Amino acid sequence: MRIDIISAVPELMSSSFGHSILKRAIANQLVEVNLINLRDYASNKQKQIDDYAFGGGAGMVLMIEPIDACLKDLKSQRTYDEIIYMSPDGELLNQKICNQLSMQKNIVILCGHYKGIDERVREHLITREISIGDYVLSGGEIAAAVLSDAVIRLLPGVLNDETSALSDSFQDNLLAPPVYTRPAEYQNWGIPPILLSGHSANIDKWRHEQSLERTKSRRPDLLK
Ligand code: ADE
Repeated sequence: MRIDIISAVPELMSSSFGHSILKRAIANQLVEVNLINLRDYASNKQKQIDDYAFGGGAGMVLMIEPIDACLKDLKSQRTYDEIIYMSPDGELLNQKICNQLSMQKNIVILCGHYKGIDERVREHLITREISIGDYVLSGGEIAAAVLSDAVIRLLPGVLNDETSALSDSFQDNLLAPPVYTRPAEYQNWGIPPILLSGHSANIDKWRHEQSLERTKSRRPDLLK
């Protein structure tokens, strides 16, 4: 899979791809992540990518020209399955959307910044808008990093069997069960004895019950 991320401040994202699971996924060529600086597509000497809003107010707005130039350049090199704009107005991200996107070959993620983006970009150039939650971030970069992380960890080979995404919270509409590690006794706080029983079928059953219990009490909406 290839993910092209267009941003006015790509530096904001580089560290999220430089560590741990994502770093390894990129090094092992399971995913290619390409951070693109929108300013490289500005047509004037000042490298301007935003301008005042027609009608006044609203602060600076990202211009359509550099975005269109950037997308044209990208599309001349490959075909994209989705061109996603990160926006609090978009469909709310969930595991199902991540699963869908993880099956795509090439996607573009466009990060908004400043006060907004020329509406014509949204009308004509993008295929999907995604929000990571009902709150407003100062730009789409952190949201793009969240989306990329959630998608990349689902790609075949990125996680090993033990950390398999199949046992994640949400993957079967259930929250994950509690986990514990050594020491088994800490300041009089013990762990459920079944986990020390060595009986894997019973442990699996217990974990499933815990998942159900936790989902019922914390996120009953997932069970509907
Ligand atoms: N840009 C600003 N806020 C956002 C959000 N909640 N989700 C996605 N992109 C955003």
